[in-house]
Amino acid sequence: MKEKLRIGALISGGGTNLQAIVDACEDGRIDGRMMFVGSDKAGVRGLERAAKHQIPTFVVEYDPIVRHYRQAPEAAGVPSDFDLEEVWRKQHLFDSNADAGRVEAFLTTRAIAEGLLLEQIDAYSIDVLVLAGFMRNLTPYFIDRFNVEADRPRIINIHPALLPSFPGVDGYGDTFRYGCKVGGCTVHFIDYGEDSGPIIGQKAFPILESDDLDAVKRKGLELEWELYPECIQLFAEGRLAVVNMTHTLDNGQMVQRKVVKIVQR
Ligand code: GRF
Repeated sequence: MKEKLRIGALISGGGTNLQAIVDACEDGRIDGRMMFVGSDKAGVRGLERAAKHQIPTFVVEYDPIVRHYRQAPEAAGVPSDFDLEEVWRKQHLFDSNADAGRVEAFLTTRAIAEGLLLEQIDAYSIDVLVLAGFMRNLTPYFIDRFNVEADRPRIINIHPALLPSFPGVDGYGDTFRYGCKVGGCTVHFIDYGEDSGPIIGQKAFPILESDDLDAVKRKGLELEWELYPECIQLFAEGRLAVVNMTHTLDNGQMVQRKVVKIVQR
């Protein structure tokens, strides 16, 4: 019998997507097993959900790391293999106009937190890491250490909007305030930018005149709970191929993009 997919999850909050994934593992919609749940916040509901299912948990709090760095940057405990220049060059989170001091502090404190996350995660030898409402961008420091094969990404995220529209922290809010008539959710692989990696799956719902923001969020979340397990199962079946596509536009311009092709069975 095929080995079950070993899944790890990172969360920051309520964990309803985590619950949907754990339930799908338990009832066989995902051929997988949740190995751990990590959080950047202590005491969140998602950690309780994990404990109820006897799933090991850990917490790496980012805020004290940032405070400590501000007070004593030289004693902040930067990982010995952190190369600020390399991570800065690779990341797509800040553009070249961003304040250099701010970028340095951000990338350095993230690397400290991410080093602690990697220490915890390494104990489990997982196949895939799912971000389930994890409200932190991962930097190239983490991504390169976890995605050991550059062409086989294995960090997946769910985003509450139809990407590439409305990246960022408030996808449903941004969709609603823009006056969109359709909203949706997206599951994608993580790359070096914010919510910019190759798209695995999307689901959409109509936004009616009578819908307020709460209604939009409710409709969206219900679709997230279906979409995320479906996409993780595609990963488990080895059916997600990330390929480099090149297109030539009518004006001769070349457009290149890494996209996910779903391999037929
Ligand atoms: C979801 O809307 C997800 O798309 C976004 O954060 C929310 C997390 O909800 N990234 P939950 O913690 O899974 O309930």
